[in-house]
Amino acid sequence: MTTFDAHPRSSLIVALDFDSLASAVKFAKQVADLVGMFKIGSQLFTSAGPEAVREISRLGTGVFLDLKYHDIPNTVAGAVLAAAAMPGLQLVNVHALGGASMMRAAAQAVSAGVPMGEDRPRLLAVTVLTSMDQKAIREVGIGGPPKTRAVQLAKLAQQAGVDGVVASVQEAKAIRKACGREFLIVTPGVRPKEAAGASRDDQARTATPREAIKAGADFMVVGRPITAAADPRAAAQAIVDEIAAAKS
Ligand code: C5P
Repeated sequence: MTTFDAHPRSSLIVALDFDSLASAVKFAKQVADLVGMFKIGSQLFTSAGPEAVREISRLGTGVFLDLKYHDIPNTVAGAVLAAAAMPGLQLVNVHALGGASMMRAAAQAVSAGVPMGEDRPRLLAVTVLTSMDQKAIREVGIGGPPKTRAVQLAKLAQQAGVDGVVASVQEAKAIRKACGREFLIVTPGVRPKEAAGASRDDQARTATPREAIKAGADFMVVGRPITAAADPRAAAQAIVDEIAAAKS
């Protein structure tokens, strides 16, 4: 199984939400030595395909393939199997709302897709999107506060053999308590306080890097506060410094 080193940098995952592989690679090269992993999501993967994973993994950082699979178990298992065979892949995810049997099928596939003797990626489940507030989740028919739903979905994911979850910082503490120390928690919606304009963009539930670590996050995903910064290296370094201070 993939193991992650303890350097503060390794907790930082930078979201490469670019529309072309050329611009993603150009950007990634600028900050690769400062970050633990790059995240390839649906925007870049739809335009560039598996080549994006190959190119980015050549930079020596791990890759988080964030395609949030949500389909019938057989289809999701096939997608996870194909993903697990990609070079440098450390994290891949599904939507917990796909249900327990879908997550079980994904958990089996993530091990089966890896060549003998090699590390397998970790499988994560998305609980509730950090762009959704209570009103937004109610509109799609999900009752109760986002935190209650996120903890319930995290427990379901763990029972199904999933290695961890993507969840907001606000939910991380309760998930850590419910699912234990070994369960991975990845938090997006992270916004450093001093970030230019401190824009929340479309994130409804945000928190600082320090708050993420204090809440028990193993990794945080940061996109626009770094990719749209005037000085991306300085923005990434400031976050790594904040992670280091919060861990000490
Ligand atoms: O630019 P920003 O820091 O908001 O980027 C956050 C990244 O994390 C985006 O790529 C988004 O797709 C992803 N993400 C999220 N909320 C989740 C799961 C993933 O924002 N629950």
